[in-house]
Amino acid sequence: MARILSGIQPSGTLHIGNYFAMMKPMIELQEKNELFCFIVNYHALTSVADADELRKNTIDAALDFLALGLDPEKCFFWVQSDVPEVTELTWILSCHTSLGLLERSHSYKDKIAKGITPNTGLYTYPVLMAADILLYKSQIIPVGKDQKQHIEITRDIAGSFNARYGEIFVIPEPQISDDIAVIPGIDGQKMSKSYDNAINIFEDEKSLKSKVMKIVTDSKPVDEPKDPDTCNVFAIYKLFAGREGTQTMADRYRKGGVGYGEIKKELLGLILDYFRPFKEKRSLLSSDLGEVYAILRKGADKTKKVARETLDEVKKAVGINY
Ligand code: ADP
Ligand code: TRP
Repeated sequence: MARILSGIQPSGTLHIGNYFAMMKPMIELQEKNELFCFIVNYHALTSVADADELRKNTIDAALDFLALGLDPEKCFFWVQSDVPEVTELTWILSCHTSLGLLERSHSYKDKIAKGITPNTGLYTYPVLMAADILLYKSQIIPVGKDQKQHIEITRDIAGSFNARYGEIFVIPEPQISDDIAVIPGIDGQKMSKSYDNAINIFEDEKSLKSKVMKIVTDSKPVDEPKDPDTCNVFAIYKLFAGREGTQTMADRYRKGGVGYGEIKKELLGLILDYFRPFKEKRSLLSSDLGEVYAILRKGADKTKKVARETLDEVKKAVGINY
């Protein structure tokens, strides 16, 4: 039984890229593993400076996970800030992390390139993420491809810490599924909460329709054969269609005679059907938020016990206990 951990930032509304790359694999993994799944609100604080928005996104992310099938009885499910031991470990790790390691972070460099004025939290973001992973001695980290370097940084930090103080941390492995490594948004760029190109999981029907119809394609006419492998609509279609449905659609593309408008309509139907039962569950859950808060508190209590054990071990190793 492997110990698996992953987290998601409540920095916006969760989208189908988040779902297929991280949430769905996590929900499936809860059956046969020791699963740690959490909402990383301290990470989101590096980019969200509105308290009400952060609070709302946090509870919305919890509702999304529970509606989509995460079972708090089968896993550890909590909000990052409810186990503040992680910030203590972050400080200890940051005293053992070279500046050079963080300077090489793509995600930091990308954000700077986009013109974001960086705060120190954005710079040390990977150290907090390393603390998330190492605090729970996690073995496997299911994430999208964009997080691969963060896991490598975690491995580096853990390796040098262990070399100095003994085998305290488990060196984690990323788990990245190749076919869903990067899901495109409606503009063809990586789908992201922050690029205004996302199809949200619980999008209402009207706005879902408008987004699907806007997915960028080439301008090949109906009759002409088309290439499924370079098409943004197909990249999203195959997430919902299953193996056979995907194959049939790929054949229709290559043969010609089907237009993008028609394919988009079929895609819309698939998305609506896929999320319909989850939508009903979500609206039920959101009518009793007290119950959701109680689930999160209970999850944090359970998680804290694991966190304390590692933190005590680390403090003893570095000489912070006296
Ligand atoms: P976002 O870029 O939307 O803010 P996050 O950085 O919070 O998303 O990512 C949460 C999880 O979802 C991570 O595991 C990330 O790799 C995955 N993910 C996010 N967007 C995509 C995408 N477009 N394709 C594949 N995986 C994604
Ligand atoms: N940085 C991750 C993201 O943006 C979120 C995250 C924080 C995370 N801590 C984690 C993912 C620990 C996996 C494990 O997607």
